[in-house]
Amino acid sequence: MEKKEKLYEGKAKILYATDNPELVIQYFKDDATAFNAKKKGSVDQKGVMNNSISAKIFEFLGANGVPNHFVRLLSDREMLVRKVQIVPVEVIVRNRVAGSLCRNYGAVEGQVLTRPIFEFCYKNDAYNDPLMNDDHVVALALATEDEVKTIRRMTMQVNDLMKKFFLALKIELIDFKLEFGRCKDGIILADEISPDTCRLWEQGTGVRLDKDRFRNDLGNIKEGYQEVLKRVTGQ
Ligand code: TMP
Repeated sequence: MEKKEKLYEGKAKILYATDNPELVIQYFKDDATAFNAKKKGSVDQKGVMNNSISAKIFEFLGANGVPNHFVRLLSDREMLVRKVQIVPVEVIVRNRVAGSLCRNYGAVEGQVLTRPIFEFCYKNDAYNDPLMNDDHVVALALATEDEVKTIRRMTMQVNDLMKKFFLALKIELIDFKLEFGRCKDGIILADEISPDTCRLWEQGTGVRLDKDRFRNDLGNIKEGYQEVLKRVTGQ
């Protein structure tokens, strides 16, 4: 597999072309940002840990019928993934109250929701990733009605699967963000699934094992990621 030119650099990852037009290399950086990059920093070894954690979760979801872009790990910071056209929406699911639900609605952190909340946000930093509904997504031609249906169905399936996956590791899945892409087989799950994109609380203690340690200056940031890695990889 030949690594070719840089295609795209985001806040936490870089994509490189390969000699196969259908495959790209996803490289995980240690850079961390929060609050739409108003806060910037880096977490030692985060890229290595997120590469490994994401790979395990994508493998698990793939084995349970959720098509995704993961092909295989290439190195400690790189995975080979299918090239997709990213649908420019961030899909968020919440099982318990945290983060922007507290900020925007005054909801009490930790409150168990009577049912999961499914959200779309427009993936556009220039506009601060605003919350949008299905009508915005379809009417602004970000995705078709069928794609929205598929995304919703796959996302709720991912929520059910990931809640069980993490509970078996004594971790509660509070909320998470997904991104989807188009390829010749239709819509597949893309991007990453890691403590950068999920809120993960240790069952029983509520200890934060995710990027909220960076966002909210809780300390021992690296240790949170390490704990998730340890439990996810069983090492
Ligand atoms: P929020 O409470 O800040 O809206 O975040 C909800 C979930 O989405 C949380 O698990 C963190 C994740 N997330 C991202 O992965 N990227 C983002 O840019 C944002 C705002 C949230």
